[in-house]
Amino acid sequence: MAPVNDGNFDTGISVTELDPERPRPLETPWGTMALYLVAGRVHCVQAFCPHLEGPLFEGSLASGVITCPWHGWRFDVTTGERVDLFRVPFGEGAKPLARCEVDVSPSGKLVLRRA
Ligand code: FES
Repeated sequence: MAPVNDGNFDTGISVTELDPERPRPLETPWGTMALYLVAGRVHCVQAFCPHLEGPLFEGSLASGVITCPWHGWRFDVTTGERVDLFRVPFGEGAKPLARCEVDVSPSGKLVLRRA
């Protein structure tokens, strides 16, 4: 894992290595995160579900929304917000996913900064 430099983490991954249909998990200084390519932009949110730590990044992805394969919680990966709270009384699990801002380094690699 590349070290954090001034709060930035160089993933060593370029955008051309990402598949829009499949999130890419990676270890970061802030835990396991996942990179998503949505409409040509890269987004980064925590890889495991805040409910019971299910492998969120292995869920089904459609229009920027990932559905957890364990119990079906749904999150917008562009914001980290949960999008199925209308079904949930009292907003259980309303806390958004941890996110990172994503930039591109001069060498073309994706660089993360904890949001
Ligand atoms: S672990 Fe993801 S919805 Fe339960």
